[in-house]
Amino acid sequence: MQGVSMSQRPYHIDVMISAKAIAARIEDLARLIRDEYKDTDKLVVVGLLRGSFVFIADLVRELEMNVEVDFLEASSYGNATESSREVKILKDLRGAIEGRDVLVVEDIVDTGHTLTAVLELLRSRHPRKLETIALLDKPARREVPLKATWTGFEIPDAFVVGYGIDFAQANRNLPYIGTVVFDDEGTAEASA
Ligand code: PRP
Repeated sequence: MQGVSMSQRPYHIDVMISAKAIAARIEDLARLIRDEYKDTDKLVVVGLLRGSFVFIADLVRELEMNVEVDFLEASSYGNATESSREVKILKDLRGAIEGRDVLVVEDIVDTGHTLTAVLELLRSRHPRKLETIALLDKPARREVPLKATWTGFEIPDAFVVGYGIDFAQANRNLPYIGTVVFDDEGTAEASA
């Protein structure tokens, strides 16, 4: 779709999920969330940096309810041969969540380690209600059992970028979800 020169290896990006399809799905998801939190005065919407920044921006504007927006940044360390990973909190929430209704927003659930660790941390702070939403889910890559409360799209194990998701810190600003295709190899199999 778009020629890019950020990688050593030349690649292009094919559209997997269009901006229009994402917008339509977010409208559906927002309805489900509004219903689930209909008795909530002010929902704390927590975006996981950096990948969720586009999704959370579009989602909160569809919610049409009182929200507080906060961010948390976690990073997981490990390699493919390790069954567990260390997840570090690089940036914590600004606000307290004890007794509050919280929705964690993730761009993609891959192995599941990041969201599992984040949920464990947030649960220890005793929110009243804690749910999760992920725009994308790659169930084939899961290493720990985890399912977000709501998922936008289940996708195969392809190398996806765009709509907040990067490849070597590029392509986050694409308005669609695309797959990276290396010109010398065809569609790459890799994690986000
Ligand atoms: C990506 C993505 C998720 C996480 C999912 O973040 O945004 O947070 O990986 O992977 P997991 O399910 O295997 O834990 P990344 O660490 O690439 O950081 P970023 O959001 O800043 O791009």
